Amino acid sequence: MRIHEQHFRTIWQEANAVCLIDQTRLPFEFVTVTVKTLPEICHAIRSMQVRGAPLIGATAAYGVALGIQAVATDQQLNAVVKELIATRPTAVNLAWAATRMQQQLQALPVSARAALAWQMAAEIADEDVAQNLAIGQHGKVVIESKAGVNPQQVVNILTHCNAGWLATVDGGTALAPIYAAHDAGLKVHVWVDETRPRNQGASLTAWELAQHGVPHTVIADNAGGHLMQHGQVDMVIVGADRVSRHGDVCNKIGTYLKALAAFDQNVPFYAAVPTPTIDWQLARGADIDIEMRDADEVAYMQGQGKDGRLQQVRVIPHESQALNPAFDVTPARLVTGIITERGVFSPNQLTSLEPST
Ligand code: MRU
Repeated sequence: MRIHEQHFRTIWQEANAVCLIDQTRLPFEFVTVTVKTLPEICHAIRSMQVRGAPLIGATAAYGVALGIQAVATDQQLNAVVKELIATRPTAVNLAWAATRMQQQLQALPVSARAALAWQMAAEIADEDVAQNLAIGQHGKVVIESKAGVNPQQVVNILTHCNAGWLATVDGGTALAPIYAAHDAGLKVHVWVDETRPRNQGASLTAWELAQHGVPHTVIADNAGGHLMQHGQVDMVIVGADRVSRHGDVCNKIGTYLKALAAFDQNVPFYAAVPTPTIDWQLARGADIDIEMRDADEVAYMQGQGKDGRLQQVRVIPHESQALNPAFDVTPARLVTGIITERGVFSPNQLTSLEPST
């Protein structure tokens, strides 16, 4: 992704350290941070300096590399992987990447592990970028079919949370088809759900789309159903944090309500999902461990004050409690299609992608 004429990924290695874009400060401050230790990388995931399922997967992979630099025994490796997996429970990419690193490293002599771990983490990052590129191409066809014979017809796409390049190593998942369509000259306009409580839509998706020059409008989370009723949404494309083998889609809280409205209004609802986000062990989305985050994320909002500085303001009475479930599950019956790097599938076709063991 280009920021101020410079190409960035969201995560990269520099010597024996990992560099990240601090997403808690966007869209007002573009700051990169360098992390050198396992506790620092766990903090980056928990505090959501990095977030988004594919990106926290890649971050966990680099976290394994960092965590075994001094000691790379099986015992250390297992402890590092356990600590990383405990940082955030819902996105399966995190456990997938950490476990893949663990299995590959365990097969090597201890003395070779520290050096090769960097290479293995880079492979996971590169695979993510390639998968997102392919998702973009498959999803572009879906958008093209909505535009029909007139490529100048504006296709209005609603998205929730941030499933753009910031949520991945590069390229994005839900936004990848939008970037591909825009770059191919199709006319797209994106309705960006603000996505309370942390406002990943308003802060991150809107910023990304603006950087890329994609026309978009930020809407309050509650506006989507109304826009669908008035024919102003041609399709919904969201990302996912975990998808069951039968196509139940777990994504940022509020996704389910958009899927319900889309179903009622005959608006196609797609999830853009790289295959590492599919949990082949999981039959039912209802069994997913939904992360409960700090109630302060609901009680306070972050924004830029008139003095230009980031500040947090309380938006609920001091006497009130708040509850903050971070994800919900959209049942497969509400999902029109799942856009993967291997093509677009209906939820009931998903098992055809299952790797053979
Ligand atoms: O809590 P977050 O910001 O990590 O949640 C992110 C989402 O829900 C995204 O939609 C999802 O990870 C898809 S990312 C390509």
